[in-house]
Amino acid sequence: MQQTAHDVVILGTGLAGLRAAVEICIQTRGMADIAIVSKVQVMRSHSVCAEGGTAAAMRPEEGDSFELHAWDTVKGADFLADQDVVDRFVRASPDEIRLLEHWGVPWSRREDGRIMQRPFGGHSFPRACMAADKTGFFEMQALYDNLVRYNNFKRYDECFVTSLLLEGGRFAGLTLLDMSTGEFFVLRGKALLIASGGLGNLYGFTTYSQTVTGDGQAIAYRAGLALEDPEFLQFHPTGLVPSGILMTEGCRGEGGYLRNNQGERFMEKYAPKMMELAPRDIVSRSEMTEILEGRGFPGPEGLDYIHLDMTHLGAERINKRLPLIREVCMKFLGIDPITEAIPIRPVAHYSMGGIEADIDGRTKAENVWAAGEVACHSMHGANRLGCNSTAECLVWGGITGREISKYLGQGVKLDGSPEGKAREEEKRIFDGLLKQNGTENPAHIRRELRTLMDRHAGVYRTGQSMQEGLDKIAELRRRFRNIAVQDKSRIYNSNLIQTLETENMLELAEALLFAGLARQESRGAHSRTDFPGRNDEKFLGHSMVYYTGGTPRLEYKPVTITTWKPVERKY
Ligand code: FUM
Repeated sequence: MQQTAHDVVILGTGLAGLRAAVEICIQTRGMADIAIVSKVQVMRSHSVCAEGGTAAAMRPEEGDSFELHAWDTVKGADFLADQDVVDRFVRASPDEIRLLEHWGVPWSRREDGRIMQRPFGGHSFPRACMAADKTGFFEMQALYDNLVRYNNFKRYDECFVTSLLLEGGRFAGLTLLDMSTGEFFVLRGKALLIASGGLGNLYGFTTYSQTVTGDGQAIAYRAGLALEDPEFLQFHPTGLVPSGILMTEGCRGEGGYLRNNQGERFMEKYAPKMMELAPRDIVSRSEMTEILEGRGFPGPEGLDYIHLDMTHLGAERINKRLPLIREVCMKFLGIDPITEAIPIRPVAHYSMGGIEADIDGRTKAENVWAAGEVACHSMHGANRLGCNSTAECLVWGGITGREISKYLGQGVKLDGSPEGKAREEEKRIFDGLLKQNGTENPAHIRRELRTLMDRHAGVYRTGQSMQEGLDKIAELRRRFRNIAVQDKSRIYNSNLIQTLETENMLELAEALLFAGLARQESRGAHSRTDFPGRNDEKFLGHSMVYYTGGTPRLEYKPVTITTWKPVERKY
């Protein structure tokens, strides 16, 4: 089997992966040999879809501060964020904005020429630096433009990673299927950065591209690394009905209202101070309460909705600040937000949990780092604030890039001999999965899984609904053992790739519900009607879920509290 080696392997080419690649180029003066691996092409990574902005406390002279940004983040996180991590984040984020300014991001500007920042949910100061409503697209472009100035990386586009091989707790290789050639091979490196993004496609109604299936989390989990806090899945309050496309929080940041079927701005009842700009967990719950109590609008396929009303903002503001939103509404629904309200409801958007990583982004495997949504640095706790995610990708892309460069500077060598395990993996896929002729269609299993997650792991949860979800997942896993992949070829076999993704999704869905069932409290995005209160005495800890091959193992890890003791959240 072919084995290819580089100094560093970066799995994932979104904001975190590209930021890290650029940083390694800078730190090593272009001397490190970097592999960047993605199952799509670079500019199709989901980060290009980020809309509303990137958070940074840039304006001390106008009243913002690191302390205020940190406090908003910790309170927004329902006190499950590690406060040392948050402190590092808020101090680093403004530098990332300035760097991107130099690297070519066309930030929207104020009248005085300074970078514009708009209000975002849960932030007590306007902090979202933005490029209209296409922020992720411009950030990605600037990073890739800068990366190509260095000639020291090789792209592995359309390569699907099937497993992470660790030997003696160290990175020995990734096994990959090159979709365009059907070749199966091993990629080795002295260091690995996993930056492969989220897992939003576990849900049917999601803001995510179809490609976002949590593959990085799944391979790390199966290799023995812990998934931290997987039960905390964020529902963004404004997913377009029925597609789920993100209607950026920037719509409310620019002054948009949420209205029920009585025309009321119902957030008055739930968050009288911050109204539509309360944190996402609170706004999503408020919307669901309105819908469940009959004050929503009837929608297709049970997707009852609420109105996002921007008709009072005027054409100029919408055209200038939210052009993508207007275009999407017109193209997908034939409605113009300048004159009509937009149908929206809570939508699966972000995973606060991920691969356990420390404040430097290092995992429990010595030469493996993780950054971006795939990772859990314990920064977002139980609920992330809007625009803290692109910022986190940039900050930890930079941090892990520097850490990896330092590590390479120690003169480390390649580790392990992955040949045997890689052959087993190849056999498992091509002699097992692909050849078997069962009676189950993996696409049906995937669809059923996503529907069950919508139903059993939604905005509101109960022990009973989560247990039922787990039982159904066990049944889906049983059926998965009896699948047939219809397309038996090797080249561009999307049928096989989607089957491998579905296998990953089944693992992750189980971990999410398993940790959720055990957490008998409501905190942030994990809201249980059978345990409506937060229970700091028992559950002020990070869930750590370990793969066993059978029932997962669950442990808890303490939260780092340096400054703020948990108090009641009021907005
Ligand atoms: O609403 C948005 O634009 C999303 C931003 C985020 O998830 O941070």
